[in-house]
Amino acid sequence: MSHILIIGAGVVGQATGKGFAQKGHEVSYVDVNLKTLAKLRDEGLPAMKMADVDWPKIDIVMLTVSTPTVDDNIVLDYIETAAADVGRGLAKTRHFIPVVVRSTVPPTTTEQRITPILERMSGKQAGVDFGVAMNPEFLRQVSSEQDFARPWITVLGCCDQRTFDLLKQLYMPFGALITQCTPTEAEIIKYVNNVYNAVKISYFNEVHAICKQLGADSNLVGAVVARSAESMWNPLYGTRGGVPYGGACLPKDTAAFMAFARQMGLEHLMLEATMQVNKTLEQKIAAVSSPDQIEAALATAHFYNQQEGYDEQENAYILEINTSGQSRAATYG
Ligand SMILES: NC(=O)c1ccc[n+]([C@@H]2O[C@H](COP(=O)([O-])OP(=O)(O)OC[C@H]3O[C@@H](n4cnc5c(N)ncnc54)[C@H](O)[C@@H]3O)[C@@H](O)[C@H]2O)c1
Repeated sequence: MSHILIIGAGVVGQATGKGFAQKGHEVSYVDVNLKTLAKLRDEGLPAMKMADVDWPKIDIVMLTVSTPTVDDNIVLDYIETAAADVGRGLAKTRHFIPVVVRSTVPPTTTEQRITPILERMSGKQAGVDFGVAMNPEFLRQVSSEQDFARPWITVLGCCDQRTFDLLKQLYMPFGALITQCTPTEAEIIKYVNNVYNAVKISYFNEVHAICKQLGADSNLVGAVVARSAESMWNPLYGTRGGVPYGGACLPKDTAAFMAFARQMGLEHLMLEATMQVNKTLEQKIAAVSSPDQIEAALATAHFYNQQEGYDEQENAYILEINTSGQSRAATYG
């Protein structure tokens, strides 16, 4: 059993801490908000200021501090301050502690901003003296503790194998599929996950406006599409990058529905953006008319899976999605 230090005892921090405590781990909380600390202590939980942490007793650190967006830009001051405090704490330890970023942060933040702070303040080397990981949280605020206890997926973006092995052991009892990737991939997964939900909601809201003007029941339309559209029942449909949509129906029906909405005096910005994105892609690679042709199209395009450092044979991912869109291997879970 590990002693886990949660830094930032808000919604995610408390759900994380309580979830690990239920699995038998010792959990302590740190926060800058004195009211939060008092509330946790009232619940009988060990909550303290950073200065009071007994660092030699800590096995794992989880950063769950706020990362608010102000004027459309993320504020990283809180997590950077917390990282500096953790770095000073690491200097007081002699054992290997994984530092896990659980806050939502823009891609590259963990490796390019948090890790250098930890190294500078501790005088130690990441991956050698301490570990660094990005492990995004997908819980919903309304059901935070239940969602943490029963995750759909666990994403472990780690720089070193030792950190991955430690975190894998920690998360195995939760029973979700574990995906191994880089910290940057983990950061991107979190954003793409949320933005995908946002895009879907926006699309159906525009559909709702069209239905309303026609006197049609948009909830019925949405519920039927949730069953009928391949992108709803086949989770990998449309998730492979680099191929514009084609075939007999998607280009003509998308254009016709947009024109129809315009004639009704309605804006359908999602459709306009969709058509624009496809047109731009089509300038790079021709649209294909069936999924069988995707492979050949991508091979001609020479830009899929060709990034420097990506080695398919090395199986960089535990959960690997192959290029024909099938789940190839789920080693853990
Ligand atoms: N709330 C959600 O549903 C949810 C879901 C997934 C991910 N997230 C992400 O998780 C992170 C935390 O979100 P939250 O909803 O728990 O936020 P929150 O505001 O509820 O909690 C954050 C806590 O961090 C504390 N804090 C700030 N700076 C600190 C510091 N330097 N040291 C110690 N504590 C500090 C704050 O006092 C606060 O108690 C954010 O990045 C958020 O985007 C949130």
